Amino acid sequence: MTASHHYDVLILGSGTAGLTLALQLADHAKVAVLSKGQLEEGASLYAQGGISVVLDKADSLQSHIDDTVQAGAGLCKEETVRYTVEQARSTIEWLIEQGVSFTKDGTSSERYHLTQEGGHSHRRIIHAADSTGREVETTLLDKAKAHNNISLFPFHIGIDLITSQKQLNDMDNRCLGCYALDIKTNTTKTFTAPITVLATGGAGKVYLYTSNPDVSTGDGIAMGWRAGCHVANMEFVQFHPTCLFHPKAKSFLISEALRGEGAKLVLADGTPFMEKYHSQAELAPRDIVARAIDHEMKRLGDDCVYLDISHQSKEFIEEHFPTIHQRCLQFGIDMTREAIPVVPAAHYTCGGLITDIEGQTDIAGLYAIGETAHTGLHGANRMASNSLLECLVFARSAADSIKKQLPLSSAEADIPEWDASLVERAREAISISHNWDELRRFMWDYVGIVRSNERLLRARQRLSLLQQEIKDYYSQYHITQDLLELRNLADIAELIITSALQRKESRGLHYTLDYPNTDTIKPPQDTVIIGKP
Ligand code: FAD
Ligand code: SIN
Repeated sequence: MTASHHYDVLILGSGTAGLTLALQLADHAKVAVLSKGQLEEGASLYAQGGISVVLDKADSLQSHIDDTVQAGAGLCKEETVRYTVEQARSTIEWLIEQGVSFTKDGTSSERYHLTQEGGHSHRRIIHAADSTGREVETTLLDKAKAHNNISLFPFHIGIDLITSQKQLNDMDNRCLGCYALDIKTNTTKTFTAPITVLATGGAGKVYLYTSNPDVSTGDGIAMGWRAGCHVANMEFVQFHPTCLFHPKAKSFLISEALRGEGAKLVLADGTPFMEKYHSQAELAPRDIVARAIDHEMKRLGDDCVYLDISHQSKEFIEEHFPTIHQRCLQFGIDMTREAIPVVPAAHYTCGGLITDIEGQTDIAGLYAIGETAHTGLHGANRMASNSLLECLVFARSAADSIKKQLPLSSAEADIPEWDASLVERAREAISISHNWDELRRFMWDYVGIVRSNERLLRARQRLSLLQQEIKDYYSQYHITQDLLELRNLADIAELIITSALQRKESRGLHYTLDYPNTDTIKPPQDTVIIGKP
């Protein structure tokens, strides 16, 4: 049977990573970009702080490398770090060429304003006030919409990859495309391409409290893993120290750039506390700040701590943090005069599908870029603003690698279409929504900022019951977006729990009461989970 949609390159995800790659390839190949929601929706749209890049004369590439490696707690791949840092300037220049407008330094129309964030020993974060992601994402999306060679498919959720081993019983495993559900028409489509790229972002939604948008359900990591890709370091989930604490403020981040501009973390009575945890105080790496807040909240039985930037003038706050200022005002908080209530929340997935420096996974024809990938840049803890940089740098290196393979063979394999003949329509959705809630709650309670073997084993037990139910449901009923995402979240939970149980030490973002110290005897090792085709 012929596939319904055939392209040279199929990209799942229209965030910074997916759109950058599409734009880099569009003059050379026919590209399809699938996105499971609105095209602009994704973590990229909400990025606040900015993108790290060495532009200041007092700064150096070596310093950016050293800071990244230091934050990564022994697990960064130095070759990857050097490559990324070296590519940063040309990447930013490319963004400016596309029309991205970064905030200028007030004293010069030539120079860009650079802010500072945790772990960075210099000011090196280029930004568009406090909505850098929106500026980048909307600029790239406008460009992609205008290009004839890019076909955009919003509301199309990738279900599973099509691989030669699974679908054609070949010995060699090659990716041939993916099955996708058109959410608006509720039909299943087959997309084929000699090259498929997973750019589906991270998996913050596996936790009850997260800074991530609803689309961040780890789909690409789960799909890649099910197809046979190796996955690394999933225990390293980054909790951002400061998300707005308000019953109605779903997932709103208070940028680390506030701390870069002098904001202090304080308790309810106004006492600052970060200095007792780290010499860099508020600008210590994120794992340390998030754990310190967690500790203070548990010690005092408080629901939140506070972030106070009221020492800065109203004008400064309105100029540098207009989005955060407005959002806080909507909740009755005037940050120019009072401290903002904040709590940590799941923010970034450091682990992912293992790729090389060109974004290639270990399955032929399959690439992974952006938050879905594990390139070795972040090690055990990502440094602030290195993520958008990674999206951009690796989208460009993947594009170079794909361009070298042009013209791509367009032979269409005889791929079976999606078979729904043996399933029926589910009568109710309650078990899906119940399982979503249960999964995210036990992940928060048992696999969160502070872990223990007992908690992890308890989570694993709960998960295995859920997985059985999901499997039964999947084999009996028609797929829906909620069911697909739940299945992916359960796979992500399995990867995180398994990886966390394998690591018999505390390192970077993984902290366990059973092994509170970092192993200084054995050389640091990635946790690698083999794919399960
Ligand atoms: P995303 O931007 O998340 O895009 C994922 C895309 O994949 C979406 O289009 C989605 O619809 C699509 N998708 C997902 N699943 C499927 C599927 N099954 N089928 C089809 N499509 C699918 N990093 C920084 O460096 N600097 C910052 O200042 C910064 N601030 C942040 C603030 C917030 C609130 C958050 C949440 C993150 C922030 N980060 C920041 C991290 C950074 O934004 C993300 O890591 C980065 O944007 C990820 O980009 P991406 O292209 O990999 O994925
Ligand atoms: C922030 O602005 O605090 C987020 C930056 C990041 O996640 O890199």
